[in-house]
Amino acid sequence: MESSEKKIPVHVSIIMDGNGRWARERGRERVYGHLNGVESVRAVTEESVAQGVRYLSLYAFSEENWNRPQEEVGYLMGLMMKAISDEVDNLMKNGVRFVVLGNRSRLDASLNGAIDRLMDMTRNNANLTLIVFLSYSGKWDILQAAVKMAREAAGNPSLLENLQPADFDRYLVTAGIPDPDLIIRTSGEQRISNYLLWQGAYSEFYFTDIMWPDFRKEAYRNALAEYARRDRRYGKVK
Ligand code: FPP
Repeated sequence: MESSEKKIPVHVSIIMDGNGRWARERGRERVYGHLNGVESVRAVTEESVAQGVRYLSLYAFSEENWNRPQEEVGYLMGLMMKAISDEVDNLMKNGVRFVVLGNRSRLDASLNGAIDRLMDMTRNNANLTLIVFLSYSGKWDILQAAVKMAREAAGNPSLLENLQPADFDRYLVTAGIPDPDLIIRTSGEQRISNYLLWQGAYSEFYFTDIMWPDFRKEAYRNALAEYARRDRRYGKVK
């Protein structure tokens, strides 16, 4: 880039990993890591607003995570419920729009109700959109999009003529949300784990050994600084 202006990603997405190991290293139960992970969520949300990031998305619970011990699943859902009620004022004060995306049919009715109320209450907030991916997986998203499109195409076969990738975007749960510019994964793991498979086609990846409960504002600023140094070419030459 010619300009000396800092390149700020429009959409940052984070695979929050390492809560369990962080807790174990301290001789505590895994859920203690999740509890401390909520503080990191608050820190990166605030810093995103401060830095001018417009979309922050978090992989909070995958479709595969339902296979964890029932006790841990229950704890995570409870934590989500608590975070929703605790953070209302903070989200309103910071102008944050809250969105949950994923297979919501698997969430219980009380959590779905609380999510709907918070989404509704924050819908006009314009500083940052905070997207929490809950019961989400990339393959699930692509499949549900394909089914929706197939149903529409059954009544309107011309829909499939000259179909472009961008035409498919609107069937994904992320319709209307720009693709992530930067995907961060904490805890030293370097894989996509069935996350934004379609949407992440041209995302920059940033891996750090820091465990999620320790990933706070300074660590996040380092990731943004690294992004600002990258040269994105989208398969072209410069
Ligand atoms: C990964 O660590 C973390 C999760 C699967 C859950 C993340 C959830 C939170 C931080 C709390 C709730 C979120 C919000 C948005 C309020 P892991 O358990 O896979 O850790 P490990 O790899 O060390 O086992």
